Order: sequence, then structure tokens, then C-alpha cells
Amino acid sequence: MFSTALDKNRHDRKSFDCGVDVLNNYLRLIANQQSSKDNSRTFVIEDDENKKQIMGFYTLTMITVDLGSLSSGLQKKHKHNNSAALLARSAVDKRHANRGLGSWLLVDALKKLLTASESVGFPLVVVDAKDGVSAFYEKFGFVPFKDENNKLFISIADIRASLK
Ligand SMILES: CC(C)(COP(=O)(O)OP(=O)(O)OC[C@H]1O[C@@H](n2cnc3c(N)ncnc32)[C@H](O)[C@@H]1OP(=O)(O)O)[C@@H](O)C(=O)NCCC(=O)NCCS
Repeated sequence: MFSTALDKNRHDRKSFDCGVDVLNNYLRLIANQQSSKDNSRTFVIEDDENKKQIMGFYTLTMITVDLGSLSSGLQKKHKHNNSAALLARSAVDKRHANRGLGSWLLVDALKKLLTASESVGFPLVVVDAKDGVSAFYEKFGFVPFKDENNKLFISIADIRASLK
């Protein structure tokens, strides 16, 4: 399996349905625009039997974090860099749910970000989880921020160690 950049001329964005309207609409209406403005990048996995069909997607961008919402050890370590990659959105089409695609997309995103971090240093990856999905990310080592519901992070150091 591999991920590829969303291509509005090739991918059928309308038929994607993860069950969450705001994510479906993001893929349909906003993801390509934001990528063309270099604000974010969206990657998809195509259905092998119909390459136009999107089975899942994720969107990556950068944010700044409030270092005060980290443990004192991490605050000290990263006091000169509050930048982080953001896994802004991630979703799997309902027809392909519970088959490991969400996990595969997450690992794929983390691999891409680890590679990116070798060229442009940033210490953390943050995820904006929808209600009730935090547990999914915690299984992969993400830790909730102290003061923010549904926002979790993992350090590049931990990603490097777990993907080794
Ligand atoms: C969350 C989501 C991406 C998971 O995708 P998926 O392909 O169904 O997940 P996987 O098959 O890889 O599941 C891996 C594990 O996570 C668990 N899991 C799946 N969805 C979960 C959820 N919403 N909350 C907690 N755990 C979840 C599975 O039960 C499975 O557990 P197991 O390994 O113990 O069996 C998918 O349910 C989805 O697209 N949801 C709607 C959009 C959304 O909420 N996106 C996330 C925030 S932007």
C-alpha cells in the first residue's frame, strides 16, 4: 500500500464518506485549495480496484504549540522551538473502516514527518483528534496536552525510536 498526494483531477472526492460531515467537506472543498496555496498537504490511499476512489486521507501542516502545556522536561528541552507538525485531519471511508487503514495512514504520516524533520528540525507532532478518537492516538504513543481536550502530541524523538 502507498499514499499519494490528493489530485483533484484524478480522485473522486465526492464519493468519500467517513461518517463525519466536516471531514468529508474538508476533503471535497478545502483540501486541494489549501494544498495549492502551500498551506497544507493532503495524502490519500486509492482503492486498488478503482484508483479514483479514495479509501482514506490525512492532512499535514505546521503549528506552534504553547510550551507551557508540556511537561517541565519537554519545556526545558524545546524552549527554543515551539514549532510542531500538525496531523490536522485523518479519516477512513466507512466502507473500509476497521481494516487497519486508519493505523496505516497514521504510521505513513509519521514516517513522512520524521523524514521531513531530518531537513527542517521541529520537535513535536500534534494531532487534533475528534471527540472520542483520542484513545486511537494514545495507542500509538500520543500524549494529551495538559489543558486541551482532544489535542495530543508525540515527540519526533519517540517517533524515531518507535520506527527504528
Ligand atoms: C478514526 C479512524 C481514522 C480509524 O480508522 P480505521 O481504519 O477504522 O482504524 P483501524 O482499523 O486502523 O483501527 C485500529 C484500532 O483503533 C481502534 N479504533 C478505531 N476507531 C477508533 C475510534 N474512533 N476511537 C478509538 N479507537 C478506535 C480500532 O478498534 C482498532 O483497535 P484494535 O487494534 O484494538 O483492534 C476512522 O474511524 C475514521 O475515519 N473516523 C471518522 C473520522 C475521525 O474521527 N477521524 C479522526 C480525527 S480527525
